[in-house]
Amino acid sequence: MAFALLVDPVPATRPAGTFGPTRRVDASAKEVSLLDLGVLRGDGCFETLAVVDRAAQEVDDHLDRLASSARLLELPDPNLDQWRAVVREAASLAPDTGEHTLKLVYTRGVEGADRPTGWAHLGPTPDHTRARRDGVSTVLLDRGYPRDIESDAPWLLVGAKTLSYATNMAALREARRRGADDAVFTSRDGWVLEGATSNVVIRRGGVYQTPPPESGLLHGTTQRAMFRVLADRGARTEYRDLRVSELMNADAAWLVSSLRYAAPIRAVDESPLAVDAEITSLVNESLAARRL
Ligand SMILES: Cc1ncc(COP(=O)(O)O)c(C=O)c1O
Repeated sequence: MAFALLVDPVPATRPAGTFGPTRRVDASAKEVSLLDLGVLRGDGCFETLAVVDRAAQEVDDHLDRLASSARLLELPDPNLDQWRAVVREAASLAPDTGEHTLKLVYTRGVEGADRPTGWAHLGPTPDHTRARRDGVSTVLLDRGYPRDIESDAPWLLVGAKTLSYATNMAALREARRRGADDAVFTSRDGWVLEGATSNVVIRRGGVYQTPPPESGLLHGTTQRAMFRVLADRGARTEYRDLRVSELMNADAAWLVSSLRYAAPIRAVDESPLAVDAEITSLVNESLAARRL
């Protein structure tokens, strides 16, 4: 089952309960203007949430990131009460059971119209069982900028989840060309950044570590949830810049994201990494059980 809800985004100041209804259309409907700047230039932002057994996961973290992406893009602040209602409506229309993907899209709208465009799309999530259990092989790919790019060149919009994902998709194709499943971006100056569509978490000396969000990457909702799961079990977690050599020599490492959850990294550039099956399944069971 797949459908989209067309949203008429209202200013952030409009009180809850005063938004117009969404319009439900078939997911393949040609409803967006060919002149929409989201279509023409990838000028907009999005969020991808998991909906499990009709419950959307990490809604607040996703909506906060939608708002922060919009701010970086200098789009009007989205009305988060309106988007929360859209998420609730879309999740309530999902099948009773199973994993579904909810994508929220917020664009600059049609050139000159001065009105953002919004929609939400829900469809089935591909089966990630194997990647979650057996892990993924990765290659290191140079992102082409230094780790501190965010403060030096804010116009590059690093840290915003923009619609311009052509680079991320090209990285995945390059990884597959090299015989791997996924890519890990590195900075020009030799630091680990993030996966093509995920965050990197490693464990070294019993401490779970991930690069800080201000180091040229997207702050992941799943990485935050994983750290909460681990901290609840008494594990130490920290944000720390990671050298490529620290990833290569990690005791275990994962690529984490909203739909695939924690996929163990079993190789980096053909150099094998140990898979910790026990922690991986514990983390993934906890991530799957979230109903928030
Ligand atoms: C570049 C990038 N980094 C990190 C993530 C992980 O974010 P989340 O855990 O919120 O899905 C994603 C998710 O799509 C991503 O595209």
